[in-house]
Amino acid sequence: MIVETITKKLGRNDLCWCGSGKKYKKCHMEQDMLADKIHLSQNDSNNSIRTTGHVSSMRPIPANITCPVYATTGKGEPLCKGFSHLKGDELEQMRETCRAARRVLNKAIKSVRPGITTDRIDAVVHQACIAEGGYPSPLNYHGFPKSVCTSVNEVICHGIPDDRPLKNGDIINIDITLFRNGFHGDCSETVPVGNIDQPSRHLLDAARECLHRGISAIHPNGQIKDIGFAITEYAHRHGYSVVRAYCGHGIGRCFHMDPQVPHHKSRDATARITPGMVFTVEPMINMGVWQHKLLDDQWTAITADGQRSAQFEHTILVTKEGAEILTL
Ligand code: CO
Ligand code: CO
Repeated sequence: MIVETITKKLGRNDLCWCGSGKKYKKCHMEQDMLADKIHLSQNDSNNSIRTTGHVSSMRPIPANITCPVYATTGKGEPLCKGFSHLKGDELEQMRETCRAARRVLNKAIKSVRPGITTDRIDAVVHQACIAEGGYPSPLNYHGFPKSVCTSVNEVICHGIPDDRPLKNGDIINIDITLFRNGFHGDCSETVPVGNIDQPSRHLLDAARECLHRGISAIHPNGQIKDIGFAITEYAHRHGYSVVRAYCGHGIGRCFHMDPQVPHHKSRDATARITPGMVFTVEPMINMGVWQHKLLDDQWTAITADGQRSAQFEHTILVTKEGAEILTL
């Protein structure tokens, strides 16, 4: 899961969001206006694909599992301010949780086939988290109703599992976060359902490469913005756009902490990267425009033009050498 940023409206003479140093009107303004037009002209029947399923009730958690605070309140994490910075024993616990999260993700991916519902995948994830002695972090986080996010085709992120079966040719992102031993570990992958077309295969390859380019850009004493610049460079070169409204995030004792990690070119992300920091990198890469719209459930984010989107995510630890991937 991810953090949503507030994107402020740029004026014609403001510097462009992409970091080119040019005025907005001389750079991306025209392209953005075109995308807004597509956004506005979409009629809802076009994009109703992820709005009609039935969502089952929250699955129960056994009494022996330690839950995060929001499990009962359905709110956020009021005490989770500041950066996630871990050391010593904490790090070993975090490593274990992240390895367990990866095992859960692997189980979920194995269950993907044409005909399975995302609710069934939710059941697999829920059981797997409990089997690891942990809690599925998305469950009741700000009221999120299920134990995993399943984002199909044009869904960018935060898709809610429901009773609709996956079809041959779909792509699905499964986003796992596990809370265990007092720490959250977060990872996701987009995988094909049966046989997918070539454009979708290329999208998946590019999104995975974007994640690795982003991680390779992490250097102690570098800045958070280096990550988004590396990702965007690669995505644009291959004709894809990068979602800006949702970012990576610090993670550890809390699900969402500082720093915010934009995947697009954001000159504002000047925070220094230092050894011990733990955060996610999770670029969402679109075939068409980068804009999104939110469905009525207030969670599901879909692409504004209805084209497909893919995402890959790791939790990483900053070391003296660079980045250690904890959810490998
Ligand atoms: Co995340
Ligand atoms: Co995630």
